[in-house]
Amino acid sequence: MSEAPLLQARDLHKTYRMGRLDVPVLRGADFTMRKGEWVAILGSSGSGKSTLMHLLGLLDEPDRGRGGVWFEGQPVAGLRGGARNHYRNRSVGFVFQFYHLLPELTVLENAMLPCRVAGAGRAAAGHVRSLLTAFGLDHRLHHRPRELSGGERQRVAIARALANEPRVLLADEPTGNLDARTGGEILDMITGLHRQGLSIAMVTHDPAVAARADRVVQLVDGRVADR
Ligand SMILES: Nc1ncnc2c1ncn2[C@@H]1O[C@H](COP(=O)(O)OP(=O)(O)OP(=O)(O)O)[C@@H](O)[C@H]1O
Ligand SMILES: [Mg+2]
Repeated sequence: MSEAPLLQARDLHKTYRMGRLDVPVLRGADFTMRKGEWVAILGSSGSGKSTLMHLLGLLDEPDRGRGGVWFEGQPVAGLRGGARNHYRNRSVGFVFQFYHLLPELTVLENAMLPCRVAGAGRAAAGHVRSLLTAFGLDHRLHHRPRELSGGERQRVAIARALANEPRVLLADEPTGNLDARTGGEILDMITGLHRQGLSIAMVTHDPAVAARADRVVQLVDGRVADR
């Protein structure tokens, strides 16, 4: 018997309500990734890439009554309460284009946040510090995000996403806000993490970024197509 996919979505539909108007964005999207795989998700602006990532990470809910999301073979889209938070905080790690760091917290506090939420504050501090050190941020631990460059902020965000050792990294255009050189550095870092076994689903506009992935899919007309 073959192993269940690490992360799978089947027949996802997502419709946004804009006043009295229904805007269908996903119309039966399927997505599958295996353990250890790096999948890049391409698609034009507005095609629903972020929407798909939010549904995979349980940051938002698909239209009711159709399709779902499975993690290691278990249905997760309908999880509620603590089980939903556990999935969002521990099974997946999320990286956004605009970092989403909390401005009043230091680098170390930002990166530690998922551990605090999981009730593992002090126990996890060593692991998070070693991530920040590996990402070249050991001299920035007590700085605030506004004192950092864009590339440094994204490295903090990646450390935060990895703080609880998630099974999969969900990255939504992690290099989209960075210049080519800094974006390249972040991409090298992510490539290194993948070589160590991290499973990655990554949205990108950039074919050069997608070229690093094991597999590329494309969102077209609300569905996921192979490329
Ligand atoms: N919360 C929301 N309410 C209403 N409409 C939304 C909402 N979020 C997204 N949309 C709409 O859904 C469509 C898909 O948005 P989404 O952000 O998923 O696209 P995307 O592929 O990530 O685009 P980009 O490449 O510009 O980031 C867009 O038309 C967008 O305006
Ligand atoms: Mg987007």
